[in-house]
Formats: sequence, C-alpha cells, structure tokens
Amino acid sequence: MSDPSAQPPTILVIDDDTEIRYSLSRVLTSRNYRVTEAASGEQGVAMVKKGPVPDLVFLDVRMGGMGGIEALQHIRAANPKQLVVLMTAFGTAQTAIEAMKYGAFDYVMKPFDPAKVLALAANALKAHADLRAVGDYKPTINADDYREGIVGSAPVMQDVFKIIGQVTASDVTVMITGESGTGKELVARSIWKHSHRAARPFIAVNCAAIPDNLIESELFGHEKGSFTGATAQRLGKFELCDGGTIFLDEIGDMALATQTKILRVLQAGEIQRVGGTETIKVDVRILAATNKDLEEMVKAKTFREDLYYRLNVVRIKMPTLRERGGDIPQIVDFCLQNLVKARKARVAKVSPEAMAVLTRHTWPGNVRELENVIYRSAVIAQGAAILVKDLPAEIRGATNVEPTVGALALTATSDAPFDAVRTANAENVALASARVTAERVAAGEPALTVERALDFLHAELARDGGRILPQLERELIRRALATAAGDVGVAAKQLGLTKAALQKKLKEH
Ligand SMILES: Nc1ncnc2c1ncn2[C@@H]1O[C@H](COP(=O)(O)OP(=O)(O)OP(=O)(O)O)[C@@H](O)[C@H]1O
Ligand SMILES: [Mg+2]
Repeated sequence: MSDPSAQPPTILVIDDDTEIRYSLSRVLTSRNYRVTEAASGEQGVAMVKKGPVPDLVFLDVRMGGMGGIEALQHIRAANPKQLVVLMTAFGTAQTAIEAMKYGAFDYVMKPFDPAKVLALAANALKAHADLRAVGDYKPTINADDYREGIVGSAPVMQDVFKIIGQVTASDVTVMITGESGTGKELVARSIWKHSHRAARPFIAVNCAAIPDNLIESELFGHEKGSFTGATAQRLGKFELCDGGTIFLDEIGDMALATQTKILRVLQAGEIQRVGGTETIKVDVRILAATNKDLEEMVKAKTFREDLYYRLNVVRIKMPTLRERGGDIPQIVDFCLQNLVKARKARVAKVSPEAMAVLTRHTWPGNVRELENVIYRSAVIAQGAAILVKDLPAEIRGATNVEPTVGALALTATSDAPFDAVRTANAENVALASARVTAERVAAGEPALTVERALDFLHAELARDGGRILPQLERELIRRALATAAGDVGVAAKQLGLTKAALQKKLKEH
C-alpha cells in the first residue's frame, strides 16, 4: 500500500443477507476499496479458490448452508495468508475463540459501526502490507552459534565474556551485580560450565526467597531435633554441592547471622550443621549475585564489610539492556528461534517497524522483560511475523497506555498539566487527588496499581456530580495533544480516534 500507484485493495464480502452486503459495500467503497460480494459460504470459498485473491475478506458467521467458521477453514486452507474478518451478531466467547483459532484476523459485531469497520479494514490491510514487507527477512543470528545462551556483541558484553573466560580456570569467588533481568544467573552458570567443576553440581540458592529462620538449615543442613520440625538429620546445599559450585543469588537479602557463616566457609572451607557440633570440610566454589547496592549496605552496616571484600574478589557488572541497545535484534532472533524450536511459537520474524519499536523501548526489566514481550507477541501474532500491533501496548508507546500511578504522580507534581482541568469549576478535585496520589507514592507506599489509582480517582471525582468521564476524557485529549505538539492527526492516532472524531470531541469540550 505504500505504492500510491498501486491498485486499490479488493475486499470480498461474504454474507447471505443482501442488506448487510449492500451496507457494508457502501461503507467500504466510500474509502475507495474495490468490493466484490458472495451470497453464501460456498460461493465465497469458490471465489477465493478461483482468484484473483482478495486482499481482505469479511465473512459472516451464521449463514444458511456452509457456515462462516467452516468457510474460514476452507479459505485458509486454500490460501493460508488470506486475511479474514468474521462478522457476527452473537458475541459469544466461543465464536471469538473459534474465529481466532482458525486464523481470522479479527471479528466485528453486527450491527456495524462504520467507523470501526473502516478502521479494522485499514488495520488488516496495513498488517498485510507489513507482512509482505517482512518477506525475505534474514535473522541476525543462528541459535546454534549461541549454545552458550548468552547473546550479545556490544563491547560491554565482550568485556563480560572475557572476564568469564578469565575466572573459569581458578576457584576465585565472583560477585555478579546488575539490574534485574540482565543475565546474572546465566553468567554464573556459564562460569560453572567452563570451569573444572563442570562435572560436579551447580546449585542456585535464592537468598531472598528463603525465610531467615530457614536459610541456615537450607545452606548448612541440620541435626535431628535441632528445632521444632527437624525430625531427621538433613544435609544442606553446601554438603550436597561438595566439589561443585554454589550460586548465592540475591545475597544482599541474606541475614547478618548467615553472612557470618558464609564468611567462615570462604575463609576456612568449613561448615556446621544447625544444632550440630561437628565441623565439616566442604569444597565448594561460591558465586554470588545481587541487584542491591552492597557498598551502601556496608555503610549502613546491614552487610558485613569483611564478607563484602571476600566476595568481591572479581566483580562482573552486567550491563543493562539500555547500554547495549544494538544487541536487541540478536536477542529477539535468539528468543524467537528458541521458541520455534520448543514449538511454543511458529513466528520466527519481526517486521522492521516492530523491531524499531523494540529497540526504542528502555527495558527496565532488561533481557527478561524483552524475552517475555517476544513470547507474548509471538503467541498472538497471526501472520508469519510479529508486527507492531502484536506488541503489548506499553511497549508500542507510552502514550497509548493508561498511565501508571507513578507516571500520574510525577506529572501531577507539576501544576502545568492540570491547567486545562483547573479552568473548569470543581476540577480542582482532580488536581488534589493526583497530588494525594503523588504524596502517597513519594511516601513509599507499595506500588499502587492502576486499578487502585482508578478507584481512588473515581471516589474523589464522583463527589462532583458524576462528571468523571468528560473530565478524564478532556485530560487525556489534552495530554495527547501536548505530546503530539498540537498535531490533531497525531494526537488522534494516539487516542485511537479518527482525526474527525477528535475534532468533534475538541468542539464538544
Ligand atoms: N545475554 C543474554 N542472552 C540471552 N538471554 C539472556 C541474556 N541475558 C539474560 N537472558 C535471559 O533473560 C532471563 C533473565 O536472566 P537471568 O535470570 O540470568 O537474569 P538475572 O540478572 O539473574 O535476573 P534477576 O536479578 O531478576 O534474578 C533468562 O531467561 C535468561 O536466559
Ligand atoms: Mg537472578
């Protein structure tokens, strides 16, 4: 569709109801689509098989003779890439699920909203064009080259690889730091796999996940009767891991008493079971990780300084994904190839536009977040590639998302965004409530969910005679216009409205 000289797209409408065919054709031809019609499922299927293949099919679910779901299966069998939108008067979960399962692009409810039908047709055809553009996409990597499982060619990652290589020959303790999801555990496993201890166990202990009163028994074991519930002697991870490598994950969350005992392992290579008197020699290499600031903790005396130095013999600081944005396409390809291999997804490509969106995102959850996003998108993508529309809204663009309370709170600390709201009477309430929200967040109240924020706003705004919706709508429109620098077309896009619809709303407000 990017080629303006190209033929207008053709749309086939399959419905046994003459009136529906007529009204749908009128709506579609108003936008210069070429419309052909079929009066039954059988006829529609025959038309697709015979060709020329339409760019898009609107297909009724309930028809005399061959029903829509059956027709959909025939159509997709004849042309697996055919875009089909189902039409139904019955919005049951079953129809919707069946429709998507058999490869419909989407479905619309009758009676139609012409604007929705047109938006849907435009989206579908855009997806079609995007998929064609992806055509001969070449993956940036071959998953087999990455048996290591650590993908990255940015210089910061090369440094990480080098250190891994350097610490595999000895038993030196390694401290791996970095934000959540940056690959700390992956690196620990890689060190172990390349070390002379590779044939012995690797045991990961998540210190944050085990309650303080159980961690010592978990690590060092206990003697029978040493505490209530200790009905038998139990070996701890250090003994079980003899000759191997222990990965103490989230070590910043370890209680001070336990820290003392870890220090003893490091200094003397010995442990005592909880409730026991025997000293047991263990030969274990320790790797540790944390996303906490241990230096700060040492200052605050919540982390032992001597242990800190013992652990920090070699430090690997994992770069955030933001620092190595250039690696994103490789990681995406790697994830997709793995998903396909594991038969969790069929889609192995990403459209250039979607890749651009992925590389633009800042990834606070780093590689783990990227992996999750790819997984989610691959599962819902209908064509041969992940398109922008398949990405979660929060990745597609902050402006498309409901603000999180954090965002709300931040903007609310400056008065400017609320000027428009304030000019109308009684809307100080909104400002006040946002301020309160801001204060709550600032006071460190645990992550308020959007849900709770909405409850809160609802309760506050409801006092002012039920004018919540216009108030919120006005504010959202104002923000969209602000981020679009006043461009009504762009703002409309952000809001999911047509330009005309937004202009109408602007007049109303
Ligand atoms: N460089 C990389 N290449 C490929 N996959 C990666 C890379 N880094 C991390 N991953 C993947 O991202 C996910 C998170 O990695 P990992 O568990 O090692 O992170 P972490 O730093 O330990 O996170 P947390 O602090 O949340 O425990 C894993 O599924 C891992 O396989
Ligand atoms: Mg981890």
